[in-house]
Amino acid sequence: MNVLVTGCYGQLGTEMRKLAASDQLHRWYFTDIDTLDICDSDAVECYFTENNIDICVNCAAYTAVDRAEDEPELAEKVNVTASKTLAESCKRHQSLLVHVSTDYVFDGQGDRPYREDDSTGPTSVYGKTKLEGEKVIQESDCRYCIVRTAWLYSSTGKNFVKTMLSLADTRDSINVVCDQKGTPTWAGDLADAIMHLINRYATEPVQEIFHFTNEGVTTWYDFTVAILDIAGKTCQVNPITTDQYPTKATRPAYSVLDKSKIKQALGIEIPFWKDSLVKCIEELKN
Ligand SMILES: NC(=O)c1ccc[n+]([C@@H]2O[C@H](COP(=O)([O-])OP(=O)(O)OC[C@H]3O[C@@H](n4cnc5c(N)ncnc54)[C@H](OP(=O)(O)O)[C@@H]3O)[C@@H](O)[C@H]2O)c1
Repeated sequence: MNVLVTGCYGQLGTEMRKLAASDQLHRWYFTDIDTLDICDSDAVECYFTENNIDICVNCAAYTAVDRAEDEPELAEKVNVTASKTLAESCKRHQSLLVHVSTDYVFDGQGDRPYREDDSTGPTSVYGKTKLEGEKVIQESDCRYCIVRTAWLYSSTGKNFVKTMLSLADTRDSINVVCDQKGTPTWAGDLADAIMHLINRYATEPVQEIFHFTNEGVTTWYDFTVAILDIAGKTCQVNPITTDQYPTKATRPAYSVLDKSKIKQALGIEIPFWKDSLVKCIEELKN
């Protein structure tokens, strides 16, 4: 199978490249905005035709949650229009689209883990564009697996773990929100689940949404305490409420995702968030 990974230098794209390096089953094609702008529909279609793409893993996205409030057109272009472009090329070529979405499609008012078919209600521009992206893929009628994830981090790129580690080096104390619950997800574990999805559904007539995060539940505050503890940093962490830390985009208060469906479909066990955090911090040290 010929597998295209878009956005290959982002957090998830980088982890896909690492796993693909030891994969013998498929031929891999890695692109980022410089080599394949997913907003360019002619270029996308041409790429599919020239390289006989059987599977597309879309790791490209507009991911700047707060900035999206000020540039909704750009967020929509990348998260909606380009998702439609990829889905339409997948439909024409009978290819499988593995697309990544977010917990921000929910309003965060729930009190039990969100299932794939729970009602959505995004509260931010980013969340709305990601939900629209899911819808245009579904409407295209291509073969697809949409994987919603949350609180993604890795040893590369810009993310919460790296921000907290660098703040701890320059400050005596950090204030972190303690009333938003969710699950941190190491991009390496998500990439591994995507590998399983590819191998399970490569030629199947699949049209499914799945939820994938690491196991467990925490808050940004407890996550920070764990990050600094594992990294051996002594900076003090103070719990604050969401009201005390206003941001342009509203974040869901509760965004835990129910992963039963993907675990059953793939027969996988998912690592607990703290175990994967240890691995990521080890990587950062090396
Ligand atoms: N990060 C999170 O906490 C989080 C949480 C839930 C879900 N997700 C979802 O998970 C997926 C992966 O996220 P991530 O954290 O790996 O994202 P990321 O690190 O921001 O990577 C996204 C990549 O897409 C590229 N890109 C942007 N516009 C493009 C275009 N028009 N054509 C081709 N490439 C383009 C970016 O390039 P530039 O860097 O040059 O712009 C970047 O390399 C996304 O769908 C995201 O919405 C993320």
